[in-house]
Amino acid sequence: MIITVDGPAAAGKGTLSQRLAEKYCLAYFDTGMVYRAVGLMLLSEDKDLQDVAAAEKAAAALTFAKMVELSRHKDFRSAKGGQAASIVSSYSGVRALLLDMQRNFAKNPMFADGTPAKGVIYDGRDTGTVVCPNAEIKFFITASPEVRAKRRYDEFVAKGMAASYEEVLKDVKARDERDATRKDAPMKPAEDAVIVDTSDMGIEEVFAKTVAIIEKKIK
Ligand code: C5P
Repeated sequence: MIITVDGPAAAGKGTLSQRLAEKYCLAYFDTGMVYRAVGLMLLSEDKDLQDVAAAEKAAAALTFAKMVELSRHKDFRSAKGGQAASIVSSYSGVRALLLDMQRNFAKNPMFADGTPAKGVIYDGRDTGTVVCPNAEIKFFITASPEVRAKRRYDEFVAKGMAASYEEVLKDVKARDERDATRKDAPMKPAEDAVIVDTSDMGIEEVFAKTVAIIEKKIK
Protein backbone atom coordinates (compact mmCIF):
# COMPACT_ATOMS: atom_id res chain seq x y z
CA MET A 1 0.00 0.00 0.00
CA ILE A 2 1.25 3.48 -0.85
CA ILE A 3 -0.14 6.56 0.89
CA THR A 4 0.99 10.08 -0.02
CA VAL A 5 0.77 13.04 2.35
CA ASP A 6 1.53 16.34 0.62
CA GLY A 7 1.13 19.96 1.64
CA PRO A 8 2.93 23.19 2.49
CA ALA A 9 5.73 23.66 5.04
CA ALA A 10 4.84 23.06 8.68
CA ALA A 11 1.30 21.83 8.02
CA GLY A 12 1.85 18.86 10.34
CA LYS A 13 2.51 16.29 7.60
CA GLY A 14 5.53 14.79 9.33
CA THR A 15 3.81 14.02 12.63
CA LEU A 16 0.72 12.72 10.87
CA SER A 17 2.69 10.56 8.41
CA GLN A 18 4.76 8.99 11.18
CA ARG A 19 1.63 8.19 13.20
CA LEU A 20 -0.03 6.62 10.15
CA ALA A 21 3.14 4.69 9.26
CA GLU A 22 3.20 3.24 12.77
CA LYS A 23 -0.49 2.33 12.77
CA TYR A 24 -0.39 0.58 9.39
CA CYS A 25 3.17 -0.86 9.70
CA LEU A 26 4.39 1.07 6.66
CA ALA A 27 7.85 2.50 5.94
CA TYR A 28 8.09 6.27 5.98
CA PHE A 29 9.85 8.45 3.41
CA ASP A 30 10.12 12.16 4.23
CA THR A 31 10.95 13.41 0.72
CA GLY A 32 11.96 16.89 1.95
CA MET A 33 15.11 15.08 3.12
CA VAL A 34 16.45 14.72 -0.41
CA TYR A 35 16.30 18.50 -0.94
CA ARG A 36 17.62 19.23 2.56
CA ALA A 37 20.57 16.90 1.83
CA VAL A 38 21.42 18.68 -1.44
CA GLY A 39 21.07 22.12 0.19
CA LEU A 40 23.35 21.02 3.02
CA MET A 41 25.96 19.63 0.61
CA LEU A 42 26.18 23.11 -0.98
CA LEU A 43 26.29 24.89 2.38
CA SER A 44 29.06 22.59 3.65
CA GLU A 45 31.13 23.18 0.53
CA ASP A 46 30.55 26.96 0.75
CA LYS A 47 28.86 26.90 -2.64
CA ASP A 48 26.42 29.57 -3.77
CA LEU A 49 22.84 28.26 -3.45
CA GLN A 50 22.05 29.97 -6.76
CA ASP A 51 24.69 27.83 -8.50
CA VAL A 52 22.41 25.44 -10.40
CA ALA A 53 25.28 23.34 -11.81
CA ALA A 54 26.72 22.79 -8.32
CA ALA A 55 23.26 21.82 -7.02
CA GLU A 56 22.82 19.32 -9.87
CA LYS A 57 26.27 17.87 -9.19
CA ALA A 58 25.35 17.39 -5.53
CA ALA A 59 21.99 15.82 -6.46
CA ALA A 60 23.70 13.40 -8.86
CA ALA A 61 26.12 12.33 -6.11
CA LEU A 62 23.45 11.84 -3.44
CA THR A 63 22.73 8.30 -2.27
CA PHE A 64 20.15 7.15 0.27
CA ALA A 65 22.94 6.33 2.76
CA LYS A 66 24.56 9.75 2.31
CA MET A 67 21.17 11.40 2.90
CA VAL A 68 20.70 9.50 6.16
CA GLU A 69 24.24 10.48 7.24
CA LEU A 70 23.60 14.17 6.45
CA SER A 71 20.32 14.08 8.37
CA ARG A 72 22.39 13.98 11.59
CA HIS A 73 23.96 17.37 10.82
CA LYS A 74 22.86 20.25 13.07
CA ASP A 75 21.71 22.35 10.11
CA PHE A 76 19.67 19.62 8.46
CA ARG A 77 16.47 20.71 10.22
CA SER A 78 17.44 24.32 10.98
CA ALA A 79 15.83 27.37 9.33
CA LYS A 80 19.04 27.79 7.30
CA GLY A 81 18.84 24.18 6.09
CA GLY A 82 15.14 24.59 5.23
CA GLN A 83 15.80 27.71 3.17
CA ALA A 84 18.65 26.02 1.30
CA ALA A 85 16.38 23.03 0.57
CA SER A 86 13.63 25.30 -0.67
CA ILE A 87 16.03 27.06 -3.07
CA VAL A 88 17.64 23.93 -4.56
CA SER A 89 14.23 22.23 -4.87
CA SER A 90 13.19 24.91 -7.37
CA TYR A 91 15.76 23.67 -9.93
CA SER A 92 14.15 21.26 -12.40
CA GLY A 93 17.44 19.41 -13.02
CA VAL A 94 17.79 18.76 -9.29
CA ARG A 95 14.19 17.51 -9.04
CA ALA A 96 14.68 15.16 -12.01
CA LEU A 97 17.92 13.74 -10.57
CA LEU A 98 16.26 13.00 -7.23
CA LEU A 99 13.12 11.39 -8.61
CA ASP A 100 14.44 7.84 -9.03
CA MET A 101 15.71 7.68 -5.45
CA GLN A 102 12.26 8.65 -4.20
CA ARG A 103 10.40 6.28 -6.53
CA ASN A 104 12.72 3.33 -5.97
CA PHE A 105 11.97 3.35 -2.27
CA ALA A 106 8.45 2.05 -3.02
CA LYS A 107 9.89 -0.92 -4.93
CA ASN A 108 11.77 -2.12 -1.88
CA PRO A 109 10.36 -0.31 1.16
CA MET A 110 12.28 -0.63 4.41
CA PHE A 111 11.95 0.51 8.01
CA ALA A 112 14.79 2.57 9.50
CA ASP A 113 16.44 -0.63 10.85
CA GLY A 114 16.53 -2.18 7.36
CA THR A 115 13.69 -4.70 7.78
CA PRO A 116 11.32 -4.89 4.80
CA ALA A 117 7.92 -3.19 4.91
CA LYS A 118 4.78 -3.92 2.92
CA GLY A 119 4.27 -0.35 1.80
CA VAL A 120 5.21 3.29 2.20
CA ILE A 121 3.90 6.58 3.45
CA TYR A 122 5.43 9.40 1.41
CA ASP A 123 5.50 12.89 2.89
CA GLY A 124 6.29 15.90 0.68
CA ARG A 125 4.96 18.41 -1.82
CA ASP A 126 4.57 16.41 -5.03
CA THR A 127 4.46 12.79 -3.91
CA GLY A 128 0.83 12.26 -4.97
CA THR A 129 1.23 14.16 -8.24
CA VAL A 130 4.76 13.32 -9.48
CA VAL A 131 6.60 10.77 -7.32
CA CYS A 132 3.74 8.26 -6.92
CA PRO A 133 0.76 9.26 -9.03
CA ASN A 134 -0.53 5.67 -8.65
CA ALA A 135 -0.68 5.78 -4.84
CA GLU A 136 -3.84 4.17 -3.45
CA ILE A 137 -4.57 6.93 -0.93
CA LYS A 138 -3.58 10.60 -1.18
CA PHE A 139 -3.90 13.40 1.35
CA PHE A 140 -3.18 17.10 1.01
CA ILE A 141 -2.68 18.58 4.47
CA THR A 142 -2.79 22.34 4.80
CA ALA A 143 -3.33 25.19 7.31
CA SER A 144 -3.11 28.98 7.26
CA PRO A 145 0.44 30.45 7.04
CA GLU A 146 0.03 31.99 10.52
CA VAL A 147 -0.95 28.68 12.14
CA ARG A 148 1.89 26.86 10.38
CA ALA A 149 4.42 29.52 11.39
CA LYS A 150 3.29 29.25 15.01
CA ARG A 151 3.69 25.44 14.93
CA ARG A 152 7.18 25.68 13.38
CA TYR A 153 8.18 28.42 15.84
CA ASP A 154 7.04 26.25 18.80
CA GLU A 155 9.08 23.33 17.40
CA PHE A 156 12.24 25.47 17.20
CA VAL A 157 11.70 26.75 20.75
CA ALA A 158 11.09 23.20 22.05
CA LYS A 159 14.39 22.11 20.46
CA GLY A 160 16.19 25.09 22.05
CA MET A 161 16.87 26.64 18.62
CA ALA A 162 16.90 30.46 18.30
CA ALA A 163 13.87 31.78 16.38
CA SER A 164 11.52 34.75 16.06
CA TYR A 165 7.87 34.22 15.09
CA GLU A 166 8.00 37.04 12.53
CA GLU A 167 11.06 35.52 10.84
CA VAL A 168 9.47 32.06 10.78
CA LEU A 169 6.27 33.50 9.24
CA LYS A 170 8.31 35.31 6.60
CA ASP A 171 10.13 32.06 5.81
CA VAL A 172 6.88 30.04 5.62
CA LYS A 173 5.42 32.57 3.15
CA ALA A 174 8.61 32.67 1.05
CA ARG A 175 8.65 28.85 0.89
CA ASP A 176 4.94 28.76 -0.07
CA GLU A 177 5.66 31.19 -2.87
CA ARG A 178 8.59 29.12 -4.18
CA ASP A 179 6.65 25.84 -3.84
CA ALA A 180 3.63 27.27 -5.67
CA THR A 181 5.46 29.00 -8.49
CA ARG A 182 8.28 26.63 -9.45
CA LYS A 183 8.15 25.60 -13.09
CA ASP A 184 8.28 21.85 -12.56
CA ALA A 185 5.86 20.21 -10.22
CA PRO A 186 4.43 23.30 -8.51
CA MET A 187 2.81 22.25 -5.27
CA LYS A 188 -0.86 21.46 -5.73
CA PRO A 189 -3.20 18.75 -4.49
CA ALA A 190 -3.51 15.69 -6.72
CA GLU A 191 -6.93 15.51 -8.34
CA ASP A 192 -7.75 12.43 -6.29
CA ALA A 193 -6.32 13.76 -3.00
CA VAL A 194 -8.43 14.34 0.09
CA ILE A 195 -7.73 17.91 1.26
CA VAL A 196 -7.61 18.43 5.02
CA ASP A 197 -7.32 21.98 6.42
CA THR A 198 -5.87 21.57 9.91
CA SER A 199 -5.95 25.26 10.92
CA ASP A 200 -8.53 24.53 13.63
CA MET A 201 -7.65 20.90 14.30
CA GLY A 202 -5.28 19.23 16.73
CA ILE A 203 -3.12 16.25 15.70
CA GLU A 204 -5.51 13.70 17.29
CA GLU A 205 -8.42 15.02 15.26
CA VAL A 206 -6.39 15.03 12.02
CA PHE A 207 -5.15 11.50 12.77
CA ALA A 208 -8.69 10.21 13.45
CA LYS A 209 -10.03 11.82 10.29
CA THR A 210 -7.32 10.37 8.04
CA VAL A 211 -7.58 6.92 9.67
CA ALA A 212 -11.34 6.93 8.98
CA ILE A 213 -10.66 7.73 5.31
CA ILE A 214 -8.01 4.98 5.05
CA GLU A 215 -10.29 2.40 6.68
CA LYS A 216 -13.07 3.22 4.25
CA LYS A 217 -10.69 2.90 1.26
CA ILE A 218 -9.18 -0.37 2.52
CA LYS A 219 -12.67 -1.92 2.74
O1 C5P B 1 9.20 19.30 4.07
P1 C5P B 1 10.51 20.01 4.26
O2 C5P B 1 10.38 21.34 4.94
O3 C5P B 1 11.55 19.16 4.91
O4 C5P B 1 11.03 20.28 2.77
C1 C5P B 1 12.17 21.07 2.53
C2 C5P B 1 11.99 21.79 1.20
O5 C5P B 1 12.04 20.82 0.14
C3 C5P B 1 10.63 22.47 1.07
O6 C5P B 1 10.70 23.86 1.31
C4 C5P B 1 10.19 22.22 -0.35
O7 C5P B 1 10.44 23.37 -1.12
C5 C5P B 1 11.07 21.11 -0.84
N1 C5P B 1 10.32 19.89 -1.15
C6 C5P B 1 9.90 19.72 -2.45
N2 C5P B 1 9.26 18.56 -2.81
C7 C5P B 1 9.04 17.60 -1.91
C8 C5P B 1 9.45 17.78 -0.56
C9 C5P B 1 10.09 18.96 -0.21
O8 C5P B 1 10.09 20.59 -3.28
N3 C5P B 1 8.42 16.46 -2.30
